Amino acid sequence: MCGLVGYIGQKSVSDVLVQLLERLEYRGYDSAGIALNENGKLILEKSQGLLVNLCNKIENKHFSATSGIGHTRWATHGKPNERNAHPHISENGQVALVHNGIIENYNKLKNELKDIKFISETDTEVVVQLLGKYITKKSDENHILQQIARVCEMIKGSYAFAIMVAHIPNKIFFAKKGSPLIIGCGKGENFLASDIPALLPFTNNIIYVKDGEMGEISAEQIKIFDFKLKQKNNIIKKINLSPEQVMLGNYSTFMEKEIAQGSYAMQNTLEHIIKDRTFYKIKKTKFQDLSMMSSNIHIVACGTALHAGMLAKYVLEKECRVGVSLDYASEFRYKKPLINKKSICIFISQSGETADTIASLELAKKCGAYCVAITNVITSRISSLADFVIPTYAGPEIAVASTKAYVAQITALYALIEFVAKLNNKKIKYNSNDIFGVVKTVENWSAKLLWHDLIKDICTKESIYFVGRGVDFYLVKEGALKLTEISYIHAEAFAGGELKHGSLALINEEAIVIVLLTQKDLIDKTLNAIAEIKTRGATVILISQFEYLKNCAQHFILLPKVKDILMPFVAIKPLQELAFLCAKEKNLNPDKPRNLAKSVTVE
Ligand code: F6R
Repeated sequence: MCGLVGYIGQKSVSDVLVQLLERLEYRGYDSAGIALNENGKLILEKSQGLLVNLCNKIENKHFSATSGIGHTRWATHGKPNERNAHPHISENGQVALVHNGIIENYNKLKNELKDIKFISETDTEVVVQLLGKYITKKSDENHILQQIARVCEMIKGSYAFAIMVAHIPNKIFFAKKGSPLIIGCGKGENFLASDIPALLPFTNNIIYVKDGEMGEISAEQIKIFDFKLKQKNNIIKKINLSPEQVMLGNYSTFMEKEIAQGSYAMQNTLEHIIKDRTFYKIKKTKFQDLSMMSSNIHIVACGTALHAGMLAKYVLEKECRVGVSLDYASEFRYKKPLINKKSICIFISQSGETADTIASLELAKKCGAYCVAITNVITSRISSLADFVIPTYAGPEIAVASTKAYVAQITALYALIEFVAKLNNKKIKYNSNDIFGVVKTVENWSAKLLWHDLIKDICTKESIYFVGRGVDFYLVKEGALKLTEISYIHAEAFAGGELKHGSLALINEEAIVIVLLTQKDLIDKTLNAIAEIKTRGATVILISQFEYLKNCAQHFILLPKVKDILMPFVAIKPLQELAFLCAKEKNLNPDKPRNLAKSVTVE
C-alpha cells in the first residue's frame, strides 16, 4: 500500500518521477505527489486522485531539479485529499519525506513537537517534523544520517522512507523497516522504489534494502548503513525481467492481460518447481507420515490467496486423506492457534507483503511450527521469514484484482499435494504431466464471447449469486470476490446444499444465479440446487463441461473438458472474465477498483 520513488541523476526529475510512479500506481491511487530540490529549495506538487491529475497540474511547469522523491497513496490515516498527500515537509522547509507503512506511535511522538503546527492528519507528518527539528541548515551528511537513525529508533510500526534535505540537493536519504524498498543502480543516476516494475525501464540492477538499513544515494554513489551507522556492502542483483512484462502491450488493461496469462503462470510455475527441484530441500520428515500430519497442517492467507488455500485443503483432504485447518490470516493471528513444533503452516501470498499474513507467520514461528510460504515475490518479507519458500512464477501482477497469481498458487499447491502423495505412496488422480496437459486448453479457450449477451443483464443487478459444490464452491467464492471487487456488484457464493438453509430466501424472479458444475460425482446434487432456484423463478447461468446438461438452465456456458480434479484450472477463467467484462460494461477501470490497493501492508 502506497508506492514511493526517488531519483537523482542528470534527467529532468519530474518526468522520471512520473514514469516511476506510473508503474507503482497499483499500490494506491488516492493521491500522488512529488518533491523536488530546486537549487536548495524544496518544492512540493501534489494532487488528489489518480497520478494523471498530478501530471496535468505540473504539465507546463519547468523544473531544473535533478533530484526528487514521489509517492502514490492509499489512505490509512487521514482522508484521501491533497493536504494528506505525500510528500510531507517540515515546518521549517528543511526536510521533505515520503513514506510507505504505518507509524503506530505517532500520537505519542507528536507530544515531542508541541510547538509545531501540523498540516495533515497523517501518521507520517510526525516523522518529517521530528527530522525538521533535529536537522539544521548546518547539518552535514553524517549528522543527517544520525538524525534519521535517531528518529527510526523512536518509531513503532513499519516504514520505508525517502527523504530530501533542502541544503543537500545532491543526495536522497532512505531508511527501511517492514515495508519494501529497493535501489535501482544506473550510470550517473540512481533510483529508489517500492517495487521492481517501477525501475525496469531504467535499470535491471537492483539492491534490496533490508529491514534496519538506511543510507543515501547520489548520482554516482550508493551508501548503505545499519541504524548504528556501520556501513554495509552493496549487493547488486540483476533482475531477469523486461520492461514489456510490466507494460500493457496489446491489452487495454492489466487485468485482461493477466487473465490471459493464467496459462503461462501455470506452466512457468510448474516448470520451475520441476527444474529447480523445489521440493528437494523441503524438510521431508515433516511431510512423510500422513497420520502424524493429520490435523497438523494449517493454511493461512487473505482474500484470493485464501481461496486458493480452500481449494488446496479440499484436494489434500480428499486425495491424501489428511486433515487441514484453514484460517483468514486476520483471524489466525488473534485466535491462539493450536499449533506447535509438529505443525506445518502454509502461508499463501502473492505480494509476500500482506500485514496479517506476515503477523500470522511470525506467530507460527514463535510456536515452533515449520513455515512454508507460497509467494510470487521471492524477495518479499514473507519469503525471508519462512522456513521454506515455494515461489510462484506468474510474473509481476499489476492489476489490483489477483488473477494469474491465483492460478499460479493453485498450481504450486497441486504440485505440493502431488509431492506429499508420492512421499507417502498414495495414489492420487493427477500428476504434473496432467497439469502441463491442461495449459494449452486454458490458453486456447476464452469465455468472453459466451458471456457477451448476458453481461448487460448482469450489470443491471445489485446482487448476483453464485452456487457450487465441492471444489466448485471454492471457485465460485473466488468468482464472487472478483465480481464484487471490480464491478461493485454485490456478489455472494453459496454452497449448493446450503441454499435451503437460508439463502434461498433471496431468490426470486429478479435474481440471476451463476452455477458452476465441474464434478461428475456432484451432478445430481447440483441439479437439485438448480431446480430449487428455477422453481423460484430466477435465471440460472450454468457453467459446465457436461454438454448434455445444456437445457437444465436458461443459459449455458460450455467449458473445455479436462480431468475433473483439474477443472479448477479451466473453470476459474470464465469467472475472472465475467468480472472483467462487467467492469468494462460499467465503464470502470478494472485495474484500479475504488478503495482498494494491491498490497495490504496495514492491518
Ligand atoms: C483479490 C485480491 C486480494 C488479495 C489479498 C491477499 O483480487 O487480490 O484479496 O488476494 O489481499 O494478497 P496477497 O496474496 O498479496 O497476500
